[in-house]
Amino acid sequence: MTGQMMHNGANPTTDPALWGAVLALHLLGMAIWMGGSTYALFVLRPSLALLDTTQRNSVQLQTLKRFFLLVWYAMPVMLVSGWAMEAVPMGGFGNPDWHIQAMQGLAVVMAAVYLFTFFGPYRRARRAMRPQPATFDRIRSLVTLNLFLGAIVVVIASLDHVF
Ligand code: HEM
Repeated sequence: MTGQMMHNGANPTTDPALWGAVLALHLLGMAIWMGGSTYALFVLRPSLALLDTTQRNSVQLQTLKRFFLLVWYAMPVMLVSGWAMEAVPMGGFGNPDWHIQAMQGLAVVMAAVYLFTFFGPYRRARRAMRPQPATFDRIRSLVTLNLFLGAIVVVIASLDHVF
């Protein structure tokens, strides 16, 4: 009965098609961000040892530029879709569910780490005549930190899933 009513669009605040689409955006944003981090850390970076220093720096700068551009889209999509789900179908920001609060808190830390990486070591690397390996190491550590936080959030979110 409730499902019927929702499918007819009578109650958009809980319409499963609408909020399913918002959840899909949320998960796609997460997949792009975490998948990109995984690829950068575990696939691309070990392969860079094949290149000489100048080529390695150029490839790192190019690939980071493209990856960070994707995160500029994925991150807001994930945050806004998460807040939208919390605010409307889940009844508001006062939601006492610790899973949602932890997801939100860690997501804000992840966004801060990303902004710090972008405007700190990444910008330094782009502006340098000869970027130092230490700068790329710093970027790698920060991307690793965010991947780790993202993995914790996925575990927390999964614990909240109703089977
Ligand atoms: C502002 C930040 C965020 C808010 C407010 C938020 C909120 C939400 C809400 C309300 C749901 C639906 C939960 C349900 O249907 O029971 C959800 C699902 C989910 N979120 Fe987030 N989220 C945020 C960030 C993140 C981040 C950073 C990640 C991972 C990197 C993430 C991963 C997930 C996953 C995997 C689910 C699916 C859970 C399931 O199917 O049961 N979220 N989120």
